[in-house]
Amino acid sequence: MATNKTFTMIKPDAVANGHIGAILNDIIAGGFKIVAMKYIHLTQETAGNFYAVHKERPFYGELVQFMTSGPIVAAILEKENAVEDFRKLIGATDPTKADEGTIRQKYAKSIDANAIHGSDSDDNADIEGSFFFSQFERF
Ligand code: RTP
Ligand code: MG
Repeated sequence: MATNKTFTMIKPDAVANGHIGAILNDIIAGGFKIVAMKYIHLTQETAGNFYAVHKERPFYGELVQFMTSGPIVAAILEKENAVEDFRKLIGATDPTKADEGTIRQKYAKSIDANAIHGSDSDDNADIEGSFFFSQFERF
């Protein structure tokens, strides 16, 4: 089902480097409305479950390690064509390949510490948003 929502996390590197405010500004300037948001430090178990789709990939262990290395900001965002437009706003997974002006080009240092997550499909936006936010909250 197509939706107008996506899910994001400002990753531990961007939080530690003081980029929460600048990244939220870019998200809002990009036309996204923040409809739910929380600041949390993930446990190994929660991060492992969130990234279970990547369990067989070689970088899984490092990814879970990195995502639990410090607090993150998780949010649900709303905009027309949200998933695709947000992937454009954040840029390529590898920041050295991310377009000029994208969030990863501006704030990320490496493919592992790449500042921000964005859902890759409407279905995953739903699954990921529900993972972090209660179905009993309104968003
Ligand atoms: P994300 O899920 O964080 O928005 O990133 P993405 O869709 O652009 O990339 P994805 O393939 O979903 O990978 C999730 C995260 O795993 C790390 N990764 N490392 N070393 C590598 O080849 C590699 N590939 C992916 C990245 O930190 C990526 O954000
Ligand atoms: Mg992904």
